[in-house]
Amino acid sequence: MTQDVQPAGVSVGFIGLHPHRSASSRKQRRTAASWIGMALVLLFAAAWAGNAMSSPEAKAILKAKSCGTCHVIPGVEGAYGKFGPSLKGLRDRARILGGTMKYSTKNMEKWLKNPKALKPDTMMPNTGLSDEEIEILIQFFNAN
Ligand code: HEC
Repeated sequence: MTQDVQPAGVSVGFIGLHPHRSASSRKQRRTAASWIGMALVLLFAAAWAGNAMSSPEAKAILKAKSCGTCHVIPGVEGAYGKFGPSLKGLRDRARILGGTMKYSTKNMEKWLKNPKALKPDTMMPNTGLSDEEIEILIQFFNAN
């Protein structure tokens, strides 16, 4: 048995003050694991916050790209267009794009990047979105 008098979570061994301790390397590994766990928690928290915050950003892109001239988009001012289908509840649809495919992040990425690459006879124009804008819009559609 080794005498481990350190309180849990406060590892002096980790910063190398007691390298002679036999439990030190095991402790270091355990401490490293808890650091990784903490980093993951922070990462998920940041992703979640980013998701919640992307909404105004997404709405700004939808407005700037005039998506609303062709689509009804709930929550986006002036988006009452009837040329294309309503974008309400997109993620809950069994199929999108005239029943030709499933709603998925991958299909949405392809569609928003270049509609004609996915459906050559479509009436939706290429709106010239950047990869970053596409990511923000997909987060918005995934959440709305
Ligand atoms: C000029 C009109 C027009 C504009 C502008 C336009 N779209 Fe479309 N959009 C369409 C049409 C038409 C369809 C139906 C396409 C089809 O099935 O071939 C469509 C389909 C879609 C779909 C699939 C919806 C479904 O139910 O199948 C999404 C998602 C979409 N558009 C998003 C956007 C976004 C985001 C923008 C702005 C960046 C945008 N559209 C701008 C005309 C437009």
